[in-house]
Amino acid sequence: MSWNIASGLDGKGVVVTGAAGGIGRAIVEGFAAAGARVCAVDLRQDAVDEVVSGLGSGHLAIAADLSDLGGHEAVLRRALDTFGSFGVLVHTAAVLLRRYDIDDITEEDWDRQLDVNLKATFFLNRAAARLFREQGRGGRIINFTSQSWWTGGFGGAVAYAASKGGIVSLSRGLARTLAPYDITVNTIAPGFVDTQMLVAGVPKQQLEEWKRMVPLGQRFTTPQEVAAPVLFLASDLASHITSTTINVTGGQLVYSALSGEPGPARADRRY
Ligand SMILES: NC(=O)c1ccc[n+]([C@@H]2O[C@H](COP(=O)([O-])OP(=O)(O)OC[C@H]3O[C@@H](n4cnc5c(N)ncnc54)[C@H](O)[C@@H]3O)[C@@H](O)[C@H]2O)c1
Repeated sequence: MSWNIASGLDGKGVVVTGAAGGIGRAIVEGFAAAGARVCAVDLRQDAVDEVVSGLGSGHLAIAADLSDLGGHEAVLRRALDTFGSFGVLVHTAAVLLRRYDIDDITEEDWDRQLDVNLKATFFLNRAAARLFREQGRGGRIINFTSQSWWTGGFGGAVAYAASKGGIVSLSRGLARTLAPYDITVNTIAPGFVDTQMLVAGVPKQQLEEWKRMVPLGQRFTTPQEVAAPVLFLASDLASHITSTTINVTGGQLVYSALSGEPGPARADRRY
């Protein structure tokens, strides 16, 4: 084994969903820089084309709505056929429908978030595991949860939080189920990451308050800082890590996240 963060990634077939999003894009770029062949998946073809256009040749861009469960296998098999191998699934695609209060959550809101975030995760993970087993070389699955899997969110965010809690549970169950096939399943739990999902529609004053809740630098995490542990989990260095959740939050305490409590670390508050 080489003591390199990109150990084992050179030439590896990787599928990244939500690839046109803030975090997904950084993950695509990270894997491409590590020598992997990346299939970028998101809703719009022009958006994924744009993501892979700057990466050089050998990559793939596929438009797919992952709430269409029947389309999962075709997407993954296209990556396998194009690359000759498929060894890593990074699943970031998700929706957050911001609602102020629990009374504002409609049945449609609930269904959309649970369908895209949770239901699609299970069926996409299962489709990936089937292809990994078919190839007989193991595989890596990295799913995306959120600090809200632990806090439960607050007010109108509880539907999103429930979907993200479900992702942790199903990832642990799949990790145990798929371990005999050398398939690892782990989750990343970001804190406040500077992307459209976080900032869209949020007043500047609220964003500044959230930044103050982050002990490391009182700033948002960058998408690249989230991509780094994803590459690690896909590398040879993480061959014996499964069913874990890695927090990437700048030290933000999970129980203060989104609760409106003041941040634990300010320059004038050291204890
Ligand atoms: N940004 C944050 O602060 C933050 C915090 C915690 C967790 N997360 C999680 O990180 C992941 C990435 O978030 P992001 O900040 O990059 O969000 P983003 O909104 O920038 O990107 C999400 C991407 O998913 C795609 N997508 C949505 N529904 C889809 C579907 N049905 N089929 C295919 N693609 C679909 C969107 O088009 C978008 O490009 C998500 O799972 C999110 O829940 C983000």
